[in-house]
Amino acid sequence: MNSQIKLHRATGGIVPEVAARAHIKNILPITKLALKKAKLNLENIDYLAVTAGPGLVVSLIVGVEFVKGLSLATDKPIIPTNHMAGHLYSVFIKHASAVKFPIVALVVSGGHTMLVLMKSFSNSKVIGQTVDDAAGEAFDKVARLLNLPYPGGPKISKLAKLGQAIIQFPRPMLHENNYNFSFSGLKTAVRYYIDDLQKTKNLPRTKTIAFGTRADIAASFQQAIIDVLVGKTMKAARNYKAKTIALSGGVAANLALRQALLKLAKQQHLKFIVPNYELCTDNAGMIATAAYFKLKAGYKPVHFSKVKADPNWEL
Ligand code: KG4
Ligand code: ZN
Repeated sequence: MNSQIKLHRATGGIVPEVAARAHIKNILPITKLALKKAKLNLENIDYLAVTAGPGLVVSLIVGVEFVKGLSLATDKPIIPTNHMAGHLYSVFIKHASAVKFPIVALVVSGGHTMLVLMKSFSNSKVIGQTVDDAAGEAFDKVARLLNLPYPGGPKISKLAKLGQAIIQFPRPMLHENNYNFSFSGLKTAVRYYIDDLQKTKNLPRTKTIAFGTRADIAASFQQAIIDVLVGKTMKAARNYKAKTIALSGGVAANLALRQALLKLAKQQHLKFIVPNYELCTDNAGMIATAAYFKLKAGYKPVHFSKVKADPNWEL
């Protein structure tokens, strides 16, 4: 595995050109390493899968153009794969056999928050998504308000363990009659709370607030976001008579969220499936898995001349 987190921490988030340059530097060595670890060489591979979207176009282009080169050199066809399909199918890396449909899948990443209804491996429909910030984005933005480094999710969940969820932040759209989400108001509520605190204590803007209070803010924010995610997922599971609940995407690495969904799924006698931690945040294994299911559903891999990065590709 190769991570660019340290690089992005230096700039407080992902700067597209910095990310793309790092991809260019790493893509060949990491491909060689993956083949070596799998004890395979390119001749043993049937098809080449690549993330073609959605995402930052400069990053997508690096992967897409690299795989086209590989395809030209090896004569293997390509399976262009949707990044969110990667997250969606990542739950099947561990749980492909004996899985029961329908599945209500909550996919929560830095760029997306969606509820997907899966009636079979090849039949899925997005039933709800965020109307503004994604769940991971909200974690990252609130982390910044608390002076925590990028990526914010893991830092907030660590800090939340030391605090109590005693501050009443809003649960946006929880009781609305749809499966959509909105997290930008929640982030603003946290910002106002911090601003008020600094004003009442007459602290200069740059002065950080007490550690215990920061921990309480982290715990309360995390609880608010979990209540909304879990509430809407369980509502969808009820209405669509789901037999399984799936959780994936970077935010699925959040232990409190995993535990909350597991508990409710158990109460309702539903199966709960979630990838191992390392397969929640972006990885190539999930792309290979989504490509495999696409192939199984009858997709014909294509010639490299047909493959193009699509930054807005919808699931
Ligand atoms: O899926 P992912 O790796 O990349 C995208 O497709 O966006 O998700 C990254 C997001 C970041 O916003 C990060 O803060 C969040 O996942 N994340 C977490 C945790 N670990 C990563 N959020 C909450 N709790 C975590 N433990
Ligand atoms: Zn992702």
